[in-house]
Amino acid sequence: MAKRKDKRESDELYSQVLQLAVHALSSVPEDFRNYEGDRFLDEIQFELEALASPTLPRSPELPMMKKFRFQLLHRWMLANIAPCRMVDVGGGKGLLSYLFQQSDWHTTVIDPINQPLPTKYKDLTSNKQISIAPEETVTRINAEFQPDFAKDADLLVAMHAHGCNIQMIEAALHYNCGLILLPCCVIHEPILPPAGMPWIEWLVGYVIEKGFMVAPFRLNFKGQNIGIYARPLAQSLT
Ligand SMILES: C[S@@+](CC[C@H](N)C(=O)[O-])C[C@H]1O[C@@H](n2cnc3c(N)ncnc32)[C@H](O)[C@@H]1O
Repeated sequence: MAKRKDKRESDELYSQVLQLAVHALSSVPEDFRNYEGDRFLDEIQFELEALASPTLPRSPELPMMKKFRFQLLHRWMLANIAPCRMVDVGGGKGLLSYLFQQSDWHTTVIDPINQPLPTKYKDLTSNKQISIAPEETVTRINAEFQPDFAKDADLLVAMHAHGCNIQMIEAALHYNCGLILLPCCVIHEPILPPAGMPWIEWLVGYVIEKGFMVAPFRLNFKGQNIGIYARPLAQSLT
């Protein structure tokens, strides 16, 4: 019963953020929207149709996983974004960056707490545990996020990161880079959503208002699993 209620609430929230995004994208003139904006719109329409019709398969490229959030985000990004220079903000132990390093992306973890890579992870394709040797590393900067870290980046990514979502939005606008946010709780942010409004829903509205095209997505793991893929509208002009 509780599970069904959780699912219904998650579906309602996801539908709400999709509708915010589709409304914003539909009001962008076609010339500005470009190919990527049109693709965002198609994907959002597909997700909305899937939500409205339980018989349609959802996000068919994703298996029904309940955890493995790093592997699922890695897989989603490989399927949707061309290889680029990414910054993994609040990256914790660095598994997300490690997976992208294996995929030949250029990536740097930014996190004030220095943490070693995990010793193993599950590969979703082979369904096997893969060991990470003790001498393997990812590039990391042990510091709080600063806007300058976005200077040479194409994409800023934050999975459940604390204290830096608003700063990342400002930095992505300033340096004209893409943004992936999967926020969980609101911790040490300079702005708060109004009481009762989910952080993710408020963030989608905020990012749109700041001048990004936004494509929400949802990954199949337990916990806050709705993400935002956003590109500054200014990128459409370059
Ligand atoms: C909940 S953990 C998430 C870690 C990892 N991304 C994950 O999904 O497991 C939040 C991370 O944000 C980091 N953090 C806190 N304040 C930060 C800041 N101002 N800039 C960058 N990272 C920060 C913490 O050190 C911590 O590793």
